[in-house]
Amino acid sequence: MIALVTGANGGLGQAIARAWLEASPDHRVLLGVREGRAQAETLAAASDGRAELVTLDVTDPAAWAGVIERVGGVDVLVNNAGFHRDALLANLAPDDWHAVIRANLDAVYHGCRAVIRPMMARRYGRIVNVSSLSALLAPAGQTNYAAAKAGVVALTQSLAKECARSGITVNAVCPGYIDTDALTALTDEEKRNLARTIPMRRFGRPEEVAAAVTFLASREASYITGAVLKIDGGIL
Ligand SMILES: NC(=O)c1ccc[n+]([C@@H]2O[C@H](COP(=O)([O-])OP(=O)(O)OC[C@H]3O[C@@H](n4cnc5c(N)ncnc54)[C@H](OP(=O)(O)O)[C@@H]3O)[C@@H](O)[C@H]2O)c1
Repeated sequence: MIALVTGANGGLGQAIARAWLEASPDHRVLLGVREGRAQAETLAAASDGRAELVTLDVTDPAAWAGVIERVGGVDVLVNNAGFHRDALLANLAPDDWHAVIRANLDAVYHGCRAVIRPMMARRYGRIVNVSSLSALLAPAGQTNYAAAKAGVVALTQSLAKECARSGITVNAVCPGYIDTDALTALTDEEKRNLARTIPMRRFGRPEEVAAAVTFLASREASYITGAVLKIDGGIL
């Protein structure tokens, strides 16, 4: 079983790729990278040849087509790459609107489009889209990111219905605050204050998201499609 994980040099991508490899000796993973590569290279070096880097800017449809053509299709796609660029809408520059929509929403469309026909031909596939709690509880200052991630939820549910009889499941996870580089802009005091708003009183660990993604990506998760799973320590 081969999985492609985008954004695989980042905190969640690393944890997802590692959990997938640990789930079975038959699992292999393509680590989608763009700028940063060091962590993905370390993971690949320790993987006994089961992990391989692929250069993939997820906003580039030609890059997607090239990767899928070269590897001949994947069993699992985890659309994980993404970033946020927060500002109140009154100050949100058009470039920051478009860049966030491109990387978080357009990219999921490009990725799904690249894998869906080969998955339909094989009548098997698992797609897991990494959305965000911001899609469901949109905070101020994230109109671009919240709109993109809410779009990912809607795309997931629509595509799940399109594929429901083709052996392909399409699900989304919505992580809350997870301790990765995505939160480096926060000061320690901001982190402490935020943690007080979480019923579990702590941020999530990347492994806690990866466990859910690995399950949704497994053969066993065969009757789960169109699901939107919050992973957030109980924020309601
Ligand atoms: N951490 C959280 O609290 C949290 C919460 C909810 C949702 N999420 C979502 O979880 C996903 C992973 O985030 P993370 O926490 O692991 O953040 P991270 O450590 O900052 O990693 C993000 C990864 O996405 C990659 N990326 C960004 N734009 C890309 C592009 N155009 N093409 C290919 N790769 C690109 C980055 O690669 P480069 O080296 O090329 O920049 C990086 O490896 C994101 O979609 C994020 O929105 C995170």
